[in-house]
Amino acid sequence: MGILSAAFVRRQLMRDTPPERIDVSAYELDKTLIPGLEKTFEACRAACEEMDVEFSAIVRNADFIGEGAEMLRNDLFSTTQQTFDAAIVNPPYGKLSTTSAAYRLLCGVKAETTNLYTAFLNLIIGLLKSGGELVAITPRSFCNGPYFRLFRQNLLRQMSFRDIHIFDSRSAAFKHDKVLQENIILHAVKHGKATRTIRISRSGGAEGDGVRTRVLPTNEIASPNDAEAFIHIPTSERHLAAREQVCGLDATLATLGLTVSTGRVVDFRARDHLRQKPGNNTAPLIYPCHFQGLFVNWPKLDARKPNAIENNSHTANLLVPAGVYVLTKRFTSKEERRRIVACIYTPDRGAPGPVGFENHVNYVHANGRGLDLVLAKGLWAFLNSSVLDLYFRQFNGHTQVNATDLRNVHFPTAAQLGSMGTRIGDEPLPQDAIDELIREELKA
Ligand SMILES: C[S@@+](CC[C@H](N)C(=O)[O-])C[C@H]1O[C@@H](n2cnc3c(N)ncnc32)[C@H](O)[C@@H]1O
Repeated sequence: MGILSAAFVRRQLMRDTPPERIDVSAYELDKTLIPGLEKTFEACRAACEEMDVEFSAIVRNADFIGEGAEMLRNDLFSTTQQTFDAAIVNPPYGKLSTTSAAYRLLCGVKAETTNLYTAFLNLIIGLLKSGGELVAITPRSFCNGPYFRLFRQNLLRQMSFRDIHIFDSRSAAFKHDKVLQENIILHAVKHGKATRTIRISRSGGAEGDGVRTRVLPTNEIASPNDAEAFIHIPTSERHLAAREQVCGLDATLATLGLTVSTGRVVDFRARDHLRQKPGNNTAPLIYPCHFQGLFVNWPKLDARKPNAIENNSHTANLLVPAGVYVLTKRFTSKEERRRIVACIYTPDRGAPGPVGFENHVNYVHANGRGLDLVLAKGLWAFLNSSVLDLYFRQFNGHTQVNATDLRNVHFPTAAQLGSMGTRIGDEPLPQDAIDELIREELKA
């Protein structure tokens, strides 16, 4: 209990010139943990005394969101100190409802966000002095995706990164808590001058694992020109090479005249119109379970998911016109080899009329209509390639692939995609053949 504060104190005492005093404010909601914290701080006090460093600790058995927001508002009744030189934190994770009291408190100090850990960090960033340092161990999920964009923008505006540590294993760091989460440790300085480089280290996650460190240009990790404020964390030569290759591609979906959207059929909202089997006046309804290699396998009558949606006045705007579409799964299980899994829908493998794509599927279209089949095959190969997967994993710490993520990826040109597409027949290519095709077609 309180191991992070203890590590901080130990590090201060190891400095050539230790500080004159250390005042710790510690927050813990769970009162059963308070005696353990107090014991740790007693040990800190004893260690400080030996070095002639004054030590005090206030252990607050209180909600940090409430008190942190209060401190930030500089409330007259606030009894705790107002600003901090340093913060070290392993905040709780979990969604924060926009209707909760905590969310309202956060809004009051412009720190609103919808996850507990980003709420803690927003408050802490506000409470740090200029030049103050933050060390936080958190999920990696904030590094990309629209959900955390505002948080990232605040983080990058106020803090400058010095070190980032990532764990190879999703389960080792918190195996006792059954948390399956990619975690990172972040060290950043408030209003610090951006350094040219950031130190990136990684380790297995289990105790005693070796740590590998490399130094990378700051603008490769977080670029001030990126409207999404993504935080990219490349960690090996292979990752760096993939990053260079994908970033060097000339097109984006937008320049190809294409758009990616999230499937419009939210099944529980359209429940009355869903059918297990296709019938008269129904359109195919495509779920991730219909993905099979190159093309969708539809209908799948033994699947637990419905195969069709009625085509009527209620569902008309949920359907898209008949055509060829490239689909990607929005969620992949951790067993899946790649984060991006793409598949092609064609009317001759579905039904001639309009089609419904379920909300767990993203679909690539040309202004609401289908694509040329050869182009679609080229997109299929690129989206399923190992190089894109290696690139994508660097900034996508979770198993979700949002439409925004795909909008920000660089793609081969239409000519390159077309050339790839002509080399693909009706059978899916195995992974090594996809990768070979991409290597040959994207060779400079
Ligand atoms: C991921 S654990 C980290 C524990 C601690 N930092 C450590 O290193 O041992 C998060 C802790 O935050 C506490 N917690 C959860 N919500 C809180 C809140 N609103 N205010 C203060 N503490 C909270 C939990 O009880 C839990 O002990």
